[in-house]
Amino acid sequence: MRILVCKDYDEMSKKAAQVILSQITLKPNSVLGLATGSTPIGMYKNLVEMYESGVVDFSDVITFNLDEYHKLPITSTQSYHYFMQENLFNHININPKNVHIPNGMTDNIDEECETYENAIKDAGGIDIQVLGIGRNAHIGFNEPTVSFEKGTHLVDLTPSTIEANARFFESIENVPKKAITMGTGSIFKARKIMMLAYGEGKADAVYNTVHGKITPEIPASILQFHGDIVLILDKEAASKL
Ligand code: GLP
Repeated sequence: MRILVCKDYDEMSKKAAQVILSQITLKPNSVLGLATGSTPIGMYKNLVEMYESGVVDFSDVITFNLDEYHKLPITSTQSYHYFMQENLFNHININPKNVHIPNGMTDNIDEECETYENAIKDAGGIDIQVLGIGRNAHIGFNEPTVSFEKGTHLVDLTPSTIEANARFFESIENVPKKAITMGTGSIFKARKIMMLAYGEGKADAVYNTVHGKITPEIPASILQFHGDIVLILDKEAASKL
């Protein structure tokens, strides 16, 4: 695991965008695994700026998002579809056909999950997966549990995740209780992983990711086994390492 500690969130976001820029420069049809949450917003902002100044071209890039809430219409401002349009896709020259986000509105979960996994496979697998981390060390929406989930699946969100994400909704009752997420296995298959974390609230999760026992109770701990992973942290998130 490579660990890069930055002086603040801005520096973290710039470094993360540079990693994506190098990836796309080396392979213009890169397959990017993308994440939502407040953490990658700065990285997306930097990528949009890079696009506007002509240093990056997204026309051949393919993307797969980690997750989406269950039964939250994509027009909802809290949906991850909406988030991605607002923070990245509306501002760059990505081909909408190359964008993939799980369909949380589906009535056939099994089919949706299988189709999603097959689409990742057909694209040749993920070149670089961007990850944030939950306060309980969840990745995507893989919550602490008794076994690592291989593929894309429907998950019950834990009370702590519902509470953490309530800040984006009108009230905690409006937070969906389930989500469709790529599995820990699907994430782990990415050729490179870049995890971002900032703030003191993530310090325990980061410590457990790097030094914790490898167990599905700490979903991110499995990343210790990955051969090509970089953690980009601010000082606070790195404070317990
Ligand atoms: C959600 C997302 C995760 C994200 C996490 C942390 O639960 N499903 O992918 O990493 O939130 O979010 P934040 O970056 O806002 O702390």
